[in-house]
Amino acid sequence: MKFFVDTAEIDAIAELNALGMVDGVTTNPSLIAKSGRNILEVTKEICALVDGPVSAEVVATKADDMIAEGRKLAEIADNIAIKVPLTWDGLKACKTFSDEGRMVNVTLCFSPNQALIAAKAGATFISPFIGRLDDIHLDGMDLIADIREIYDNYGFETQILAASIRTPNHVAQSARIGADVITAPPAVIKALASHPLTDKGLAAFMADWEKTGQTIL
Ligand code: E4P
Repeated sequence: MKFFVDTAEIDAIAELNALGMVDGVTTNPSLIAKSGRNILEVTKEICALVDGPVSAEVVATKADDMIAEGRKLAEIADNIAIKVPLTWDGLKACKTFSDEGRMVNVTLCFSPNQALIAAKAGATFISPFIGRLDDIHLDGMDLIADIREIYDNYGFETQILAASIRTPNHVAQSARIGADVITAPPAVIKALASHPLTDKGLAAFMADWEKTGQTIL
């Protein structure tokens, strides 16, 4: 399973990248706004840091404007994946980019049929939003499972990029279902290493070690 980091914070990406945890990065207009940086500048820095796909999202809503924005974003670096929303105009832009041989991440996916139609439009990645479905008392994980089944039924090569991941449990469940990629905030990726019994066990080992009066170095 590939790990993408869902952030535009350079330091956080660099820290995880040094541990080999970063197979790519996703950003969106909200994350760029949160960073307080210029989209072209910060995206260029991210692309220089990370080898894998870096998703940069268009903000136009009409296909022609999305295509113009996407082409400009793609000039930033070879590893740009142009991110478009799952609207009819977004699908038109997706098909154009796909025909041009560019990577496309179709985002804001909330139903199996949306994922099906994005695959037919040539999406490289489909981004189903787990957490936002959970927020309205639906089960985001059901969507990941439905898309996995549909793509496997017909051999679609579009990669399932499980997004809007809020908890370590979302990561484990996505991995069990067979999502190709997860994208998660840095804090969630770091939390994958945590377990209360690890902390408790380590504290007990340290307390017992203290009693020995020994040192290793
Ligand atoms: C994915 O590409 C999105 O940037 C992101 O996962 C959305 O997550 P949120 O629903 O927590 O904002």
